[in-house]
Amino acid sequence: MTTTRIRQMAASGEPVSVLTSYDFTLARLVDEAGIDIILVGDSASNVVCGNTTTLPITVDEMIFLTRGVVRAAQHALVVADMPFGSYQTSEEEAVRNAVRMLKESGCDAVKLEGGEDVLPAIRRMIAAGIPVMGHLGLTPQSVNQFGGYGLRAKEQAEADKLLHDAELLAKAGCFSVVLEKIPAALAAQVTEKLTPYHCATIGIGAGNKTHGQVLVLHDMLGLNQGFQPKFLRRFADMGNEIKSAVQDYITAVRDRSFPNETECY
Ligand code: KIV
Repeated sequence: MTTTRIRQMAASGEPVSVLTSYDFTLARLVDEAGIDIILVGDSASNVVCGNTTTLPITVDEMIFLTRGVVRAAQHALVVADMPFGSYQTSEEEAVRNAVRMLKESGCDAVKLEGGEDVLPAIRRMIAAGIPVMGHLGLTPQSVNQFGGYGLRAKEQAEADKLLHDAELLAKAGCFSVVLEKIPAALAAQVTEKLTPYHCATIGIGAGNKTHGQVLVLHDMLGLNQGFQPKFLRRFADMGNEIKSAVQDYITAVRDRSFPNETECY
């Protein structure tokens, strides 16, 4: 999978499937299942590290996690999130960190949050040969500014700004833009606007008119049991599967039925 192919899919209306992964074993399963893009999201800060926000995760930690995913991906394009603080301080710092992400993790592209504010950094990255995925709408790295994780761009002014930012990102050369938690009608409008640029919109909580969809793997597998926003469909109940398997193991250890004769040397 390449960014060129993702652009073709956006142009021809072929849906793009995206899931997060943060480690070799799960990424291999996701890749073998045929996903188009694996996103090593900074949601790793929550689901892997147990933080309450995405803010604490570092470039070094993202590189460490992404390496395992890259080793697993035989087919999928691997996109890694640039963590909070790695691209906001200066354009030079942004390009240096993006170069590190590609060089040290082997990922194919980076994703970063924001519109016009981060455009100079995005332009420099693209000029340096680094494919960039944008991210608009609910941008979790700005949670302290937003004051929560609610729906974004409900008001016309914010919707207009989002449309404007999306077009700027596409014009700057982003091959794709994530649209998180915005009204479906607005996401459809953005998608129509970005199609001529062959820039794929990837929605999460943004309706079904975007070019593609993304979910956090742990959420859609039912591993993250406390989290149930309206947009999340659970495609499996792995949380309860795992608990039940672990309980069976504990019982088998306690009653000495494990290991049995065929499981001994
Ligand atoms: O970090 C992440 O997992 C993301 C997706 C929710 C798009 O940014």
